[in-house]
Amino acid sequence: MPSYVIAGALVFHRGRFQPLEVRTDGPYIAAVAPSVDRSGATVIDAAGLHLFPGIIDTHVHFREPGRTHKEDLESGSRAAVAGGVTSYLEMPNTEPSATTQALIDEKLALAASKSHANFGFFIGATADNVQELAAARRVCGIKIFMSSSTGSLLVDDPVALDRIFAQTPRQRVIAVHAECEMLMRQNAERLKHRTDFAVHSEVRDAEVAWRATRQAYELAQKHQHRLHVLHCSTARETEFFTPGRSIEAKLITAEVCPHYLLLNTSAYERLGTLAKMNPPLKSEADNRGLWQALHAGAIDCIATDHAPHTLDEKRQDIWKAPSGIPAIENSLALMLDSAARGRCSLEQLAWWMCEAPARAYRLKRKGFIEPGFDADLTLVDTTEVREVRNERQFTRVKWSPWHGQRLTGWPKMTFVRGCKVYDQGTFDEAARGSEIEYA
Ligand code: DOR
Ligand code: ZN
Ligand code: ZN
Repeated sequence: MPSYVIAGALVFHRGRFQPLEVRTDGPYIAAVAPSVDRSGATVIDAAGLHLFPGIIDTHVHFREPGRTHKEDLESGSRAAVAGGVTSYLEMPNTEPSATTQALIDEKLALAASKSHANFGFFIGATADNVQELAAARRVCGIKIFMSSSTGSLLVDDPVALDRIFAQTPRQRVIAVHAECEMLMRQNAERLKHRTDFAVHSEVRDAEVAWRATRQAYELAQKHQHRLHVLHCSTARETEFFTPGRSIEAKLITAEVCPHYLLLNTSAYERLGTLAKMNPPLKSEADNRGLWQALHAGAIDCIATDHAPHTLDEKRQDIWKAPSGIPAIENSLALMLDSAARGRCSLEQLAWWMCEAPARAYRLKRKGFIEPGFDADLTLVDTTEVREVRNERQFTRVKWSPWHGQRLTGWPKMTFVRGCKVYDQGTFDEAARGSEIEYA
């Protein structure tokens, strides 16, 4: 593995972008200084660019095993590194659902053989696998679908939910898809005559999200159990979160996705079922409230909920079309574009997409550009203007809800544990990511 010296960039180091050089040796960062030893290293001229710690996407669905016509660990991780993402945490609603140690170990072996980025996996909760959850090893956390979505995982029985919080290690992250199954079903029954796209956002409305987030909040408090609320879609549910950046002191952390910040129910007109996901898009006021919560540190991380479905599957009516959008390869560009528009700073992006995810999930040697940390690095051109095009997507489903949108700010090169895996459209086909370790 060659050593690299990345020279001339502004490097995110100790909370700000600074003119520094970074040297990698093998899979680690060897030096970060105004001028580093160049002997034996390949020097990369990064003048005018910004160097971020590798982007960490803590919420993706890569569909392997079982639904590999939509994506697999190879295509999903290829899209990841093309989008500047060096590490991902993958969800258990594959086929079969990853609900046992044996199935987790299988996914880890598959990823080791084909993933371009570093990988970690959630174990899925069911109503009766609490023993597996309590004993699970090599997992980033426990995923609970409190409401049904893609796949068959669902735990909505309050007794079963209580048992999971009571009987699993308190420090292990429980990550919840927080929507209230009962209210959602009542709404669906009441609205079943409707055929417009926006009905989806009424079936799973703000109250549906708020009730489940409250339930998860109460369980976390009762059992003093670490909780992460996935994909917040409403301003209202953020009332349960504590503002500030002291993640290690927080019992409850929360995440938002770019689409909940940048899209609202007005998108159905243009996108139809391509804008269908769970939880659904909400109002413009929710967009604003989620930005505010992010700025306040009430929401800690940005992740994508990358959830590919084919265009054929999406070409059904609003009730039948599957929920989810491919997102991993444009999330950094979307957020850089938001920074270019003055909605946030580049330093905040490094916090929300690198440091905070590493801290929330206690990822070893990740999230920071520091000697001894993994050489996961994302080199970015904040001035490049490029249009998102379906035909240029690396996800297997080859479409993006952002098709046709011009964005300012794109990743140029991606390093995964010291290997230059992506360089402006070309990949190092031999390089592989590694299993993520947890502190
Ligand atoms: O929109 C969604 N898609 N929400 C989920 O909860 C699951 C995901 C998927 O796996 O398709
Ligand atoms: Zn979800
Ligand atoms: Zn998800």
